[in-house]
Amino acid sequence: MNKKIFALMSILVIASIAITACGGAAPTGAPAAGGNSVEVFSWWTGGGEAAGLEAMIKVFNAEYPDVEFVNAAVAGGAGTNARAVLATRLQAGDPPDSWQGHAGQELIGTYVAGGQIEPLNDLYEAQGWLEVMPETLIPLISDNGNIYSVPVNIHRANVLWYNPTVLADNGVEVPATMDEWFAAMDTLKAAGVTPLAVGEQWTKLHLLETVLLGTLGADAYNGLWDGTTDWASADVTAALENYAKALTYANSDSASLSWQDAAQLVINGDAAFNVMGDWAEGYFRELGKAPNTDYGWAATPGSGGVFQFLSDSFVLAVGAPDPEAATAWLTVAGSKAGQEAFNPVKGSICARTDCDKSLFGVYLQSAMDDWASNVVVGSLTHGVVANDSWKTEIDTALGLFVADSNVDTFQSALVAACASSGPCK
Ligand code: GAL
Repeated sequence: MNKKIFALMSILVIASIAITACGGAAPTGAPAAGGNSVEVFSWWTGGGEAAGLEAMIKVFNAEYPDVEFVNAAVAGGAGTNARAVLATRLQAGDPPDSWQGHAGQELIGTYVAGGQIEPLNDLYEAQGWLEVMPETLIPLISDNGNIYSVPVNIHRANVLWYNPTVLADNGVEVPATMDEWFAAMDTLKAAGVTPLAVGEQWTKLHLLETVLLGTLGADAYNGLWDGTTDWASADVTAALENYAKALTYANSDSASLSWQDAAQLVINGDAAFNVMGDWAEGYFRELGKAPNTDYGWAATPGSGGVFQFLSDSFVLAVGAPDPEAATAWLTVAGSKAGQEAFNPVKGSICARTDCDKSLFGVYLQSAMDDWASNVVVGSLTHGVVANDSWKTEIDTALGLFVADSNVDTFQSALVAACASSGPCK
C-alpha cells in the first residue's frame, strides 16, 4: 500500500468533513476527533467466515500498525442478527466506522436511500479501482454518479454441494435438471439417506431463489425483479411447486440448524445434497476436507451456465467516529493484497480482476471461469435484486409457507409483495 496515497486520502476526507461542516450540513453524529481505531461491523464470526476476515485483518495490521482494528462482528449467517443490530445502532446515531453491505438493492435501497453512507469516488480515483473492479459491479454500488462501497469479493449462490461417496454408494449421478434431482432424491430417500440438508429460515430463502432460477431460467428470473415476469403466472406456480417438493426431501430439524450445521450433514455423509453459497467451500476447507473427494459441487439443478452472484462490500459511515482509520480499512479491503488474503480462505473469488489465480483452490478456480463465462444474475437472499422491504415481505410469506405448505397462498403473498414493495406497484 502506498502510504502517500493514504496520507492524501486522509487529507481529502478531513477536507470534505470541514467543507460539510462549513456548509452547515454536518451529518448527524458529526465525526469526533480520530481515535486511531476503526470499528468494522460484519457477521463473519462462524466457521469459514471468521478466518477469511482474520486474513484480511492481518494485512491491515501490517499496513497500518498504528491503527487499532475493532472487530464488531455479530454472529448469525447471512447477517440475520447483525443487520438488526446495525439498524438499531444507525437509528441511535451510533454507527460503526465501516460495515458489510451487499452490493445491489440492499446497499442502494437501504443505506444510500437512508443517507447513511458516504460516497467513495475520491478513494476509487486515488486507488485506480475503476480499472480493476468489474464494470458490471459499479452500477450496483452507485447512485447518481456516486460510488458507495468497496466490494471485497464475488460469491456464487447457486451451488449444489454433494457428498460424492453417498451418491456413488447409491448409484446416483449428479443431477443437472429439477427432474433429475427429484429422481435422485427419491432413490436416496428409499435407501434411508436424508436427500437434502437444509438449515434455518434464511437458508430456505436461499434455496427458494435457486429453485426459482432453476425452474424459470435466467431471463424470467431476472424479470421477477424488474416487473417483466408475472408473479401470478403458471411458470411461477410451477417453480413454487418444485420448491414445495424439494422441501419434502429435507431433514426435519432444519429450523434449528445454522448453515454450517446443514453443510456439515453432507460432509459427514448424513445427507446427500445441500444448496448453499460458496462460503460453504471456505468452511469445508477449514474442516480439512478435500475437494472432489469429501465434497463435490455443481450448479443447482436447472441453472447450469448461470452464475447467481452476490458481493460483500464495505462502506464508510456518515458520521464515522474515525473516518481516517475507516479509509485505511477500505483501502485494504479494495487492495490486491487484502483480497488475495481474504478470498481463498472465505471461499469467494476476488471482486478485483487482477488477483493471482494460482492462490485459489480447484473449486474457486472453476468459479472464476464460470464468473467470466456464465450468464450472471443476482441473489435475492444476499441483497442484490430486491430492497430490504421487498425481501422482508417475501421472507414473511416464506415463513408462513414453511408452516402450511400452501402454494396458492404463498404465490398470492408473493404477488402482493411485488405490488407493495417491488416493481409491480
Ligand atoms: C452472506 C454473505 C456471505 C456469507 C453468508 C453466510 O450474506 O454475503 O459472505 O457470510 O452470508 O453468512
